[in-house]
Amino acid sequence: MNQNVPANFPVIAIDGPTASGKGTVASSVAMALGWHFLDSGSIYRLVALQALRSGVGFDDAERLMAIAKALDVSFDGEEVVLDGEDVKDKLRHEEVGNGASRLAALPMVREALLERQKSFRQKPGLVADGRDMGTVVFPDAFLKIFLTASVEARAERRYKQLIGKGLSANLESLVLDLKERDDRDTNRAVAPLKPSSDAVLLDTTTLSAVHAVKFILDLARQRMR
Ligand code: DC
Repeated sequence: MNQNVPANFPVIAIDGPTASGKGTVASSVAMALGWHFLDSGSIYRLVALQALRSGVGFDDAERLMAIAKALDVSFDGEEVVLDGEDVKDKLRHEEVGNGASRLAALPMVREALLERQKSFRQKPGLVADGRDMGTVVFPDAFLKIFLTASVEARAERRYKQLIGKGLSANLESLVLDLKERDDRDTNRAVAPLKPSSDAVLLDTTTLSAVHAVKFILDLARQRMR
């Protein structure tokens, strides 16, 4: 490995807006390299799910911080086990995603989740996906990718996912929802969604996930040489 790759287990940070394909791309890169994978959005979603279950408002910073600190969660392959229950599917509900986007704007909640995210950095390496992986959580990542795609392309992907799961969906309301979420994630005061100055921008509007994965693997292998 060359000197730009930190000895303290290498990290590839993949950030980008909702439905940019980060999850699929990042998990495929992790699998190809045999590295660990952190879907940091799922951690914010877990706090939102727990808040919904305990009747805590998405602006109640103190109680949300307590939930964030006390989360009893383990990741087991595809499963996300919260208090003994696999909640993977529940985390994908739109109300959980919207709640996550709202509580993610609270500095106390972000701070409470920081160490938990860093603990995923384990041998032989980590691929982390989110909004602030390259800027805040793993600023020393040896490769930072910022995935983008037009809001229409992202809404269409989300639409197909929902229909594929047998759920109902409306393209126009998905576009509006994505715009609202982008706006909140981009304009929040703490750790806003923005490319790190040393990130490689990758627009996936017309690029397939397979090609995006290959592009990232090629870059990673070049830098690890
Ligand atoms: O990636 P996702 O859609 O599962 O993330 C859900 C919300 O969590 C997203 O709207 C913003 C927030 N989030 C964040 O603020 N920082 C991260 N690193 C990951 C997610």
